[in-house]
Amino acid sequence: MLIEFDQAIVSTPQAEVLRGVSATLAERRVGIVGPNGAGKSTLARLVNGLVLPSSGSVRVGGLDTRQDLKAVRRQVGFVFQNPENQIVFPIVREDLAFGLKHLAPDRRQREDRIEAQLDSLGVGHLADRSSHTLSGGERQLVALAAVLVMEPALIVFDEPTAQLDLRNRNRVRDAIAGLPHDAIVVSHDLELLEDFDRVLVVRDGNIAADDNPAAALRWYREHCA
Ligand SMILES: Nc1ncnc2c1ncn2[C@@H]1O[C@H](COP(=O)(O)OP(=O)(O)OP(=O)(O)O)[C@@H](O)[C@H]1O
Ligand SMILES: [Mg+2]
Repeated sequence: MLIEFDQAIVSTPQAEVLRGVSATLAERRVGIVGPNGAGKSTLARLVNGLVLPSSGSVRVGGLDTRQDLKAVRRQVGFVFQNPENQIVFPIVREDLAFGLKHLAPDRRQREDRIEAQLDSLGVGHLADRSSHTLSGGERQLVALAAVLVMEPALIVFDEPTAQLDLRNRNRVRDAIAGLPHDAIVVSHDLELLEDFDRVLVVRDGNIAADDNPAAALRWYREHCA
Protein backbone atom coordinates (compact mmCIF):
# COMPACT_ATOMS: atom_id res chain seq x y z
CA MET A 1 0.00 0.00 0.00
CA LEU A 2 1.48 3.30 -1.08
CA ILE A 3 2.44 5.66 1.75
CA GLU A 4 3.44 9.22 0.93
CA PHE A 5 4.92 11.60 3.48
CA ASP A 6 5.16 15.09 2.02
CA GLN A 7 7.09 17.57 4.16
CA ALA A 8 5.35 16.20 7.24
CA ILE A 9 6.11 18.23 10.34
CA VAL A 10 4.91 17.24 13.79
CA SER A 11 5.44 19.88 16.43
CA THR A 12 4.43 20.14 20.05
CA PRO A 13 4.50 23.31 22.15
CA GLN A 14 7.91 22.16 23.44
CA ALA A 15 9.64 20.89 20.34
CA GLU A 16 9.55 19.81 16.74
CA VAL A 17 9.26 16.03 16.91
CA LEU A 18 9.41 15.47 13.13
CA ARG A 19 11.08 18.17 11.12
CA GLY A 20 9.69 17.79 7.61
CA VAL A 21 9.71 14.18 6.51
CA SER A 22 9.29 13.33 2.84
CA ALA A 23 9.32 9.74 1.60
CA THR A 24 7.31 7.42 -0.60
CA LEU A 25 7.03 3.84 0.62
CA ALA A 26 5.75 1.10 -1.65
CA GLU A 27 7.66 -1.94 -0.33
CA ARG A 28 6.02 -4.87 1.45
CA ARG A 29 8.33 -4.78 4.48
CA VAL A 30 9.69 -1.46 5.68
CA GLY A 31 11.74 -1.21 8.88
CA ILE A 32 12.34 1.89 11.01
CA VAL A 33 15.29 2.16 13.41
CA GLY A 34 16.86 5.00 15.35
CA PRO A 35 17.84 6.24 18.81
CA ASN A 36 15.35 6.62 21.67
CA GLY A 37 13.31 9.77 21.28
CA ALA A 38 14.27 10.20 17.61
CA GLY A 39 10.66 10.26 16.36
CA LYS A 40 10.09 6.66 15.22
CA SER A 41 6.80 6.08 17.05
CA THR A 42 5.56 9.46 15.90
CA LEU A 43 6.40 8.62 12.29
CA ALA A 44 4.65 5.25 12.67
CA ARG A 45 1.57 6.92 14.18
CA LEU A 46 1.29 9.29 11.25
CA VAL A 47 0.56 6.29 9.03
CA ASN A 48 -2.78 5.45 10.66
CA GLY A 49 -3.64 8.99 11.67
CA LEU A 50 -3.09 8.49 15.40
CA VAL A 51 -0.92 11.56 14.96
CA LEU A 52 -1.76 14.17 12.31
CA PRO A 53 0.92 16.35 10.74
CA SER A 54 1.10 19.94 12.01
CA SER A 55 1.94 20.85 8.44
CA GLY A 56 2.60 18.88 5.27
CA SER A 57 0.61 15.74 4.50
CA VAL A 58 0.48 11.98 4.83
CA ARG A 59 -1.38 9.87 2.28
CA VAL A 60 -2.05 6.15 2.63
CA GLY A 61 -3.34 4.29 -0.40
CA GLY A 62 -4.16 7.69 -1.87
CA LEU A 63 -6.19 8.77 1.18
CA ASP A 64 -5.15 11.82 3.18
CA THR A 65 -4.99 10.94 6.88
CA ARG A 66 -6.38 14.34 7.80
CA GLN A 67 -9.34 14.23 5.41
CA ASP A 68 -10.12 10.50 5.32
CA LEU A 69 -9.24 9.38 8.80
CA LYS A 70 -11.94 6.73 9.14
CA ALA A 71 -11.13 5.10 5.82
CA VAL A 72 -7.41 5.11 6.68
CA ARG A 73 -8.08 3.48 10.06
CA ARG A 74 -10.02 0.67 8.39
CA GLN A 75 -7.03 -0.21 6.24
CA VAL A 76 -4.19 0.25 8.71
CA GLY A 77 -3.80 -1.87 11.84
CA PHE A 78 -1.51 -0.64 14.59
CA VAL A 79 0.31 -2.73 17.19
CA PHE A 80 1.37 -0.45 20.03
CA GLN A 81 4.77 -0.25 21.70
CA ASN A 82 2.95 -0.56 25.00
CA PRO A 83 0.22 -3.23 24.76
CA GLU A 84 -1.43 -1.94 27.95
CA ASN A 85 -3.02 0.65 25.66
CA GLN A 86 -4.43 -1.96 23.36
CA ILE A 87 -6.25 -4.66 25.30
CA VAL A 88 -9.53 -3.25 26.56
CA PHE A 89 -11.87 -6.17 27.22
CA PRO A 90 -11.78 -8.24 30.40
CA ILE A 91 -11.45 -11.61 28.64
CA VAL A 92 -8.92 -12.31 25.89
CA ARG A 93 -11.37 -13.76 23.36
CA GLU A 94 -13.74 -10.80 23.85
CA ASP A 95 -10.93 -8.47 22.96
CA LEU A 96 -10.39 -10.24 19.65
CA ALA A 97 -14.14 -10.55 19.00
CA PHE A 98 -14.86 -6.85 19.37
CA GLY A 99 -13.38 -5.63 16.10
CA LEU A 100 -14.45 -8.74 14.23
CA LYS A 101 -18.18 -8.38 14.93
CA HIS A 102 -19.06 -6.56 11.75
CA LEU A 103 -16.46 -8.40 9.63
CA ALA A 104 -17.60 -11.88 10.62
CA PRO A 105 -21.24 -11.71 11.75
CA ASP A 106 -21.53 -15.49 12.17
CA ARG A 107 -20.60 -16.29 15.75
CA ARG A 108 -19.17 -19.76 15.10
CA GLN A 109 -17.05 -18.46 12.23
CA ARG A 110 -15.81 -15.63 14.40
CA GLU A 111 -14.83 -17.97 17.22
CA ASP A 112 -12.96 -20.23 14.77
CA ARG A 113 -11.03 -17.30 13.40
CA ILE A 114 -10.14 -16.07 16.88
CA GLU A 115 -8.93 -19.47 18.00
CA ALA A 116 -6.89 -20.03 14.84
CA GLN A 117 -5.24 -16.63 15.26
CA LEU A 118 -4.37 -17.20 18.92
CA ASP A 119 -3.09 -20.71 18.13
CA SER A 120 -0.84 -19.44 15.37
CA LEU A 121 0.94 -17.23 17.90
CA GLY A 122 1.13 -20.03 20.47
CA VAL A 123 -1.35 -18.43 22.88
CA GLY A 124 -4.50 -20.44 22.16
CA HIS A 125 -4.54 -21.57 25.80
CA LEU A 126 -5.11 -17.95 26.87
CA ALA A 127 -8.44 -17.46 25.05
CA ASP A 128 -10.53 -17.54 28.24
CA ARG A 129 -8.04 -15.82 30.50
CA SER A 130 -8.74 -12.57 32.23
CA SER A 131 -6.75 -9.94 30.32
CA HIS A 132 -5.26 -8.28 33.39
CA THR A 133 -3.59 -11.53 34.48
CA LEU A 134 -1.46 -11.81 31.34
CA SER A 135 2.31 -11.45 31.57
CA GLY A 136 3.94 -8.67 29.55
CA GLY A 137 4.97 -10.99 26.73
CA GLU A 138 1.58 -12.74 26.64
CA ARG A 139 -0.09 -9.36 26.49
CA GLN A 140 2.08 -8.38 23.54
CA LEU A 141 1.13 -11.57 21.66
CA VAL A 142 -2.59 -11.12 22.40
CA ALA A 143 -2.46 -7.49 21.23
CA LEU A 144 -0.80 -8.68 18.04
CA ALA A 145 -3.44 -11.39 17.55
CA ALA A 146 -6.21 -8.81 17.95
CA VAL A 147 -4.78 -6.76 15.09
CA LEU A 148 -3.92 -9.70 12.82
CA VAL A 149 -7.39 -11.21 13.15
CA MET A 150 -8.82 -8.09 11.48
CA GLU A 151 -6.65 -8.68 8.38
CA PRO A 152 -5.94 -5.02 7.63
CA ALA A 153 -4.20 -4.22 4.33
CA LEU A 154 -1.25 -2.68 6.15
CA ILE A 155 -0.03 -3.26 9.69
CA VAL A 156 2.24 -0.90 11.60
CA PHE A 157 4.20 -2.51 14.45
CA ASP A 158 5.86 -0.38 17.09
CA GLU A 159 8.51 -2.57 18.72
CA PRO A 160 6.57 -5.82 18.53
CA THR A 161 9.29 -7.94 20.15
CA ALA A 162 10.37 -5.64 22.96
CA GLN A 163 9.10 -7.83 25.81
CA LEU A 164 9.41 -11.24 24.23
CA ASP A 165 11.68 -14.18 25.01
CA LEU A 166 13.57 -15.85 22.19
CA ARG A 167 10.87 -18.33 21.24
CA ASN A 168 8.09 -15.75 21.16
CA ARG A 169 10.30 -13.27 19.36
CA ASN A 170 10.77 -15.90 16.65
CA ARG A 171 7.03 -16.51 16.55
CA VAL A 172 6.42 -12.81 15.96
CA ARG A 173 9.20 -12.69 13.36
CA ASP A 174 7.59 -15.63 11.54
CA ALA A 175 4.13 -14.06 11.81
CA ILE A 176 5.41 -10.86 10.21
CA ALA A 177 7.30 -12.78 7.51
CA GLY A 178 4.14 -14.78 6.73
CA LEU A 179 1.76 -11.83 6.56
CA PRO A 180 0.02 -11.60 3.22
CA HIS A 181 -0.13 -7.82 3.52
CA ASP A 182 2.24 -4.90 3.94
CA ALA A 183 4.02 -4.12 7.18
CA ILE A 184 5.97 -1.26 8.70
CA VAL A 185 8.00 -2.30 11.72
CA VAL A 186 9.70 -0.01 14.22
CA SER A 187 12.31 -2.01 16.11
CA HIS A 188 15.51 -1.88 18.13
CA ASP A 189 15.89 -5.57 17.26
CA LEU A 190 18.08 -5.04 14.19
CA GLU A 191 18.17 -8.72 13.26
CA LEU A 192 14.39 -8.61 12.81
CA LEU A 193 14.81 -6.12 9.96
CA GLU A 194 17.65 -7.85 8.12
CA ASP A 195 15.49 -9.45 5.45
CA PHE A 196 13.17 -6.47 4.96
CA ASP A 197 12.86 -4.63 1.63
CA ARG A 198 13.86 -1.22 2.96
CA VAL A 199 14.99 0.36 6.23
CA LEU A 200 14.68 4.00 7.33
CA VAL A 201 16.95 5.41 10.02
CA VAL A 202 15.22 8.18 11.97
CA ARG A 203 17.48 10.53 13.89
CA ASP A 204 16.57 13.81 15.53
CA GLY A 205 13.20 14.12 13.77
CA ASN A 206 14.49 13.39 10.27
CA ILE A 207 15.01 10.40 8.02
CA ALA A 208 18.80 10.36 8.20
CA ALA A 209 19.33 7.25 6.08
CA ASP A 210 17.06 5.27 3.76
CA ASP A 211 18.43 2.18 2.08
CA ASN A 212 18.44 -1.61 1.84
CA PRO A 213 18.71 -3.23 5.31
CA ALA A 214 22.44 -4.02 5.12
CA ALA A 215 23.41 -0.48 4.16
CA ALA A 216 20.91 1.29 6.44
CA LEU A 217 21.79 -0.84 9.48
CA ARG A 218 25.51 -0.30 8.83
CA TRP A 219 24.87 3.45 8.73
CA TYR A 220 22.92 3.22 11.99
CA ARG A 221 25.69 1.27 13.73
CA GLU A 222 28.33 3.71 12.52
CA HIS A 223 26.49 6.95 13.29
CA CYS A 224 24.16 6.27 16.20
CA ALA A 225 26.00 3.85 18.52
N1 LIG B 1 2.59 14.58 22.31
C1 LIG B 1 3.85 14.91 22.61
N2 LIG B 1 4.13 15.98 23.38
C2 LIG B 1 5.40 16.32 23.70
N3 LIG B 1 6.47 15.61 23.27
C3 LIG B 1 6.25 14.53 22.51
C4 LIG B 1 4.95 14.11 22.15
N4 LIG B 1 5.03 13.01 21.38
C5 LIG B 1 6.36 12.75 21.30
N5 LIG B 1 7.09 13.65 21.97
C6 LIG B 1 8.56 13.70 22.09
O1 LIG B 1 9.06 13.54 20.78
C7 LIG B 1 10.25 12.74 20.80
C8 LIG B 1 10.07 11.57 19.85
O2 LIG B 1 9.14 10.66 20.42
P1 LIG B 1 8.86 9.21 19.80
O3 LIG B 1 7.95 8.51 20.73
O4 LIG B 1 8.44 9.36 18.40
O5 LIG B 1 10.33 8.59 19.86
P2 LIG B 1 10.86 7.13 19.47
O6 LIG B 1 11.89 7.30 18.39
O7 LIG B 1 9.74 6.22 19.21
O8 LIG B 1 11.65 6.69 20.80
P3 LIG B 1 11.77 5.25 21.55
O9 LIG B 1 12.85 4.48 20.84
O10 LIG B 1 12.23 5.65 22.92
O11 LIG B 1 10.43 4.60 21.54
C9 LIG B 1 10.49 12.39 22.24
O12 LIG B 1 11.41 13.29 22.77
C10 LIG B 1 9.13 12.55 22.89
O13 LIG B 1 9.25 12.90 24.25
MG1 LIG C 1 8.90 4.59 20.21
